[in-house]
Amino acid sequence: MRTEQGLKVCIVGATGLVGRTMLEVLEEHEFPVSQLLPVGSARSVGTSVFYGGQPHNVISIEDAITAKPHLALFSAGGDVSEQWAPQFASAGVTVIDNSSAWRMDGDCPLVVPEVNGNHIGPDHRIIANPNCTTMQLVMALKPLHDHYRIKRGIVSTYQSITGTGKAAIVQLEEERKGETPSAPVYPHPIDLNCIPHCDVFVEDGYTKEELKVWHETKKILGDDSLAMTCTAVRVPVQGGHSESVYLELERDFELSDVHQVLSDFPGVVVVDDPSSNAYPMPRMAHGKDEVFVGRIRRDLGHPNGLHLWVVADNLRKGAATNTVQIARYLLDQGRWS
Ligand SMILES: NC(=O)c1ccc[n+]([C@@H]2O[C@H](COP(=O)([O-])OP(=O)(O)OC[C@H]3O[C@@H](n4cnc5c(N)ncnc54)[C@H](OP(=O)(O)O)[C@@H]3O)[C@@H](O)[C@H]2O)c1
Repeated sequence: MRTEQGLKVCIVGATGLVGRTMLEVLEEHEFPVSQLLPVGSARSVGTSVFYGGQPHNVISIEDAITAKPHLALFSAGGDVSEQWAPQFASAGVTVIDNSSAWRMDGDCPLVVPEVNGNHIGPDHRIIANPNCTTMQLVMALKPLHDHYRIKRGIVSTYQSITGTGKAAIVQLEEERKGETPSAPVYPHPIDLNCIPHCDVFVEDGYTKEELKVWHETKKILGDDSLAMTCTAVRVPVQGGHSESVYLELERDFELSDVHQVLSDFPGVVVVDDPSSNAYPMPRMAHGKDEVFVGRIRRDLGHPNGLHLWVVADNLRKGAATNTVQIARYLLDQGRWS
């Protein structure tokens, strides 16, 4: 096909938080879409979503695959991706998947274009989008690993409720109105609270979210020796995820060089001027595509220890923006030429 005509793009989960953000990002990034095929669950089929100022009918996933899109962007949970992504791929559709279903599959690249776009080969039909927590983290780690080699790191997260989907916003709003949540997604109240429990507990006292950081960081940076341990905490915030990151680096560093190395990396913005109270916050990151880094300082007890504070909108770079960037990368590589 000639790419200037645009692609037939299917969004599976178009009525969800990530799917709606994808619609915004596709438009903002002027991604060439010749036809949009929005998919929701049976509950949403027949309703509409807005794209390009026009309503578009939500269709079933069966109808979407029959329409033979060029590209399918999945954000409807792991079960839907597990079942349907291979069927789309077999039908010749390129799938970019936001769920955790394919991230650690040896045949699927796990991609942040600025970091490892080169992991995508011409035959890859399912390309995985990393977990939002890992995504913003590796954006800060990549330039530091290249310059100083990270030996190990400790991450503590302060994760937005938007990471749990639209039902989490409903829970928070009901709690704030003093109502009993109609369909709670957290095991405890989230308003005025911090819950050290993101996703389910799996092994050795870790949650799945924490192990995603451990495994996905190694895969994306292509270094199995990288040890990034994590405690993931849900907080009643909506603009994005924040992360306190402690790193031990193999090589010596000057803080001014660390600032420069991070600032030079595409998609990273350093905001670090304590004298004017300038540091990244979710309210600042909300609706933006970049990853913001601040509070950069040397550890008091380890000469090669470095502290960072990393903030990004999990629905943007953590999900929708990265997905659209992967699609753009494929387009630029001539996938549909
Ligand atoms: N939120 C984040 O920050 C984030 C970041 C990275 C990755 N992700 C991943 O992205 C996915 C979606 O997250 P979200 O936050 O957007 O969740 P959400 O707001 O709950 O939206 C879920 C979407 O999936 C659709 N869906 C559910 N079951 C379906 C089915 N059987 N067939 C077709 N569509 C179905 C829903 O349609 P209805 O509206 O009809 O129910 C809705 O469009 C999840 O896999 C999540 O892990 C989320």
